[in-house]
Amino acid sequence: MNSAKVLLGCSLVAIASMGLLANSINGKEEERKAINISPVVKEKGVEAKNEEWAKYYPRQYDSWKKTRESEKIDDQLKKKPQLAILWAGYGFSKDYNAPRGHFYALQDNINTLRTGGPVSPVTGPAPTACWSCKSPDVPRLMEEVGEKEFFTGKWAKYGSEVVNTIGCGDCHDSKTGNLVLTRPYLKRGLEATGVKLDQISHQDMRSLVCAQCHAEYYFKKTEETDDKGNKKIINTVTFPWSNGFKGESIEEYYDDLGFSDWTHSISKAPMLKAQHPDYELFTTGIHAKRGVACADCHMPYKQEGSVKYSDHHITSPLDNIENTCLNCHQEDEAEFKAVVKTKLDRKEELMEIAMNSLAKAHLEAGKAWEVGATEAEMKDALQDIRHGQWRWDYSIASHGSFYHAPEETLRLLAQANDKGQEARLKIAAVLARHGVIGYVAPDFSTKEKAQALAGVDLAKDIAEKQKFKQTLLQEWNKEAVEKGRLNMDSRKDMSDHSSYSSK
Ligand code: HEC
Ligand code: HEC
Ligand code: HEC
Ligand code: HEC
Repeated sequence: MNSAKVLLGCSLVAIASMGLLANSINGKEEERKAINISPVVKEKGVEAKNEEWAKYYPRQYDSWKKTRESEKIDDQLKKKPQLAILWAGYGFSKDYNAPRGHFYALQDNINTLRTGGPVSPVTGPAPTACWSCKSPDVPRLMEEVGEKEFFTGKWAKYGSEVVNTIGCGDCHDSKTGNLVLTRPYLKRGLEATGVKLDQISHQDMRSLVCAQCHAEYYFKKTEETDDKGNKKIINTVTFPWSNGFKGESIEEYYDDLGFSDWTHSISKAPMLKAQHPDYELFTTGIHAKRGVACADCHMPYKQEGSVKYSDHHITSPLDNIENTCLNCHQEDEAEFKAVVKTKLDRKEELMEIAMNSLAKAHLEAGKAWEVGATEAEMKDALQDIRHGQWRWDYSIASHGSFYHAPEETLRLLAQANDKGQEARLKIAAVLARHGVIGYVAPDFSTKEKAQALAGVDLAKDIAEKQKFKQTLLQEWNKEAVEKGRLNMDSRKDMSDHSSYSSK
C-alpha cells in the first residue's frame, strides 16, 4: 500500500515537471524570434573571417571567442594507454587529445602528428578532406572551386586557403544571417535517411548546424580522368546513414561495402575507426525525443541589460549548469550534479573493461600469428575484434555520449566487451592448437609501453612536424595574409600547444 502511494506521488511530480519542461521549450521559440536581426555581412559567397562578423554582432563574437578558454591539452593516450594498442598501425596511436574549444580547431588540425609534416602541396599522409570540419574557409572554397575539386588532392594543397578557425560562416548564411547547412555532404546524408530538406524545422536546425561536423563519416574514394587525361582521386566526406543511426546499422553499412579504415598492425584485423557520432547517438536519447536541441544545452540564452542573445561560448554545459540544465530541470544543483557524475562513473567502468579485453585480443592475435596461425583459423576472431572495437569506439568517440544517450552508450559498451571476450576465447583455442597455453599479453600500462608495442616512432614524427611548422606553415600564413584571407590579429590570443611540445 505504502509503496504504491510513494510511486503515485513520484509520477505526479514527474508529470508536473514535464509540463514545465514543455513550457520552457516553447517559450524559447518566442524569445528567438524577438532577437533575430540580420544585416548583410557579405553580399555573395561565404565570409570566413570571424572579425568581419564582429562588426555587426559584437556579443555573439565576444562569446564565440571565449571558446579559447578551453585550451588545455588533455593527452588521452597518456590517460588511457590501451588506445595506442587499439589503434596500432593507424595515426591515432601517435597522437590523440580530448577536444578543445572551437577557437583551436584549426591549430589542433595543423599540430596533430596525424596530419604529418608535408614539404609541398602534394606530400603528407592526409587528404584535403581533413580540413572539412575545421573552418568556414571550407564552404567558401567549395563555392569557389566546386565540391569535387575541393576533395581532390592532399591536405597541404589548401594550407594557405583554410586559415580561419570554426566560426560564423560555418553555421550562418553571410547574406541573410540565417542558420544554414554549409556542408553538402550533410544534406546528402539526411536525404539518405528520408529527410526532406525543405521540411526541416527551425528547432532541428539548432542541432543540424552541429551535425555538419559532430557526426560519423568516412572518405569515399572515387577515381576520375579529367579533360587533359590526368587521373584524379577524389576523397569525399560521406555520412554512412542509409541503414540508420544505430552502431550496428552503420557497421552493417561498412561491412556491406567491404570497407576498412586500416589493417591493424598487430592482430591484422580489418578495422573501422569511428569519428565522432555525437549527432547520431544524441538522437537515440530522451532529450532528442523530447525535442531538445544541441543549442539548448550548449548555447543557452544570455541576458545583458535589455538584450538577450545566444551564448556562443560553446563548451561543457556543466560549467554553466544553472543557465543550461537547470533551465529545464528544476532541481537542487548539488543533487543534480551527483546524478550526472554517476552517469560518467558507470560509463568509465564499462569502457575500461571493454578497452582492456579488446587490447588483449589484439596482442593475443599477434602471438597467434607469430606461432603460425593460418588465415582460416583467425578469420572469425578477427571479425569479432572488428565489430567489438567498432561498437566501443562508436559509443565513446562521441565525447558527450554518456550524457547525450546514456543507455545506448552502455548497451554498445557491453556488446564491445562481449565481442572482445569472444575473440579472446577463439584465439586461445588457436594458440592451444599451436602449442601455446596460458599466454599472457605484454604490459601496456603506460603510453610509452603501449606505443612501443604499437611500433610508433614518435621522435621521427615529431621532428617532421617541427620542421614543417618552421618552414611550409610559415609560407602558408604569409601567403594567406598577402591574399587577404587571414588577419594575423585573429590569432593574437592563441598560444601554441600540442601534446608533444607543451611538456
Ligand atoms: C565546422 C565544424 C564544427 C561545427 C559546425 C561545430 N563543431 Fe563543435 N567542434 C568541432 C571540432 C573540430 C572540435 C574540436 C576542436 C579541437 O579540439 O581543437 C569541436 C569541439 C566541440 C566541443 C568541445 C569544446 C570544449 O571546450 O571541450 C563542443 C562542446 C562542441 N564542439 C559542440 C558543438 C555544438 C553544440 C555545435 C553546434 C551548435 C558545434 N560544436 C558545431 C567542429 C565543429
Ligand atoms: C556552431 C554553429 C554556430 C557558429 C559557429 C556561430 N553561430 Fe550564431 N547561432 C547559432 C545558433 C544555433 C543560433 C541560435 C539561432 C536560433 O535559434 O535562431 C545562433 C544565433 C545567432 C544570432 C541570432 C541572435 C542570437 O544571439 O540568438 C546571431 C546574430 C549570431 N548567431 C551571430 C553569430 C556570429 C557573429 C558568429 C561568429 C562570431 C556566430 N554566430 C557563430 C550557431 C552558430
Ligand atoms: C530544454 C530543456 C532541457 C535542458 C536544457 C536539459 N534537459 Fe534534461 N531533460 C529534458 C527533458 C524534456 C527530459 C525528459 C523527461 C522525460 O520525458 O522523462 C530530460 C531528461 C533528463 C534526464 C533523465 C533521462 C536520462 O537521459 O537519463 C537526465 C539525467 C537529464 N535530463 C540531464 C540533463 C543535463 C545533465 C542537462 C544539462 C547538461 C539537461 N538535462 C538539460 C529537458 C532538458
Ligand atoms: C541535454 C543537454 C545536452 C544536449 C541537448 C546536447 N549536449 Fe552535448 N554535452 C552535454 C553534456 C552535459 C556534456 C558533457 C560535458 C562534460 O563532460 O563536461 C556534453 C558534451 C558534449 C561534447 C564533448 C565535449 C568535451 O569536451 O568532451 C560535444 C562535442 C557535444 N556535447 C556536442 C553536442 C552536440 C553536437 C549535440 C547535439 C547533437 C549536443 N551536444 C547536445 C549536454 C548536452
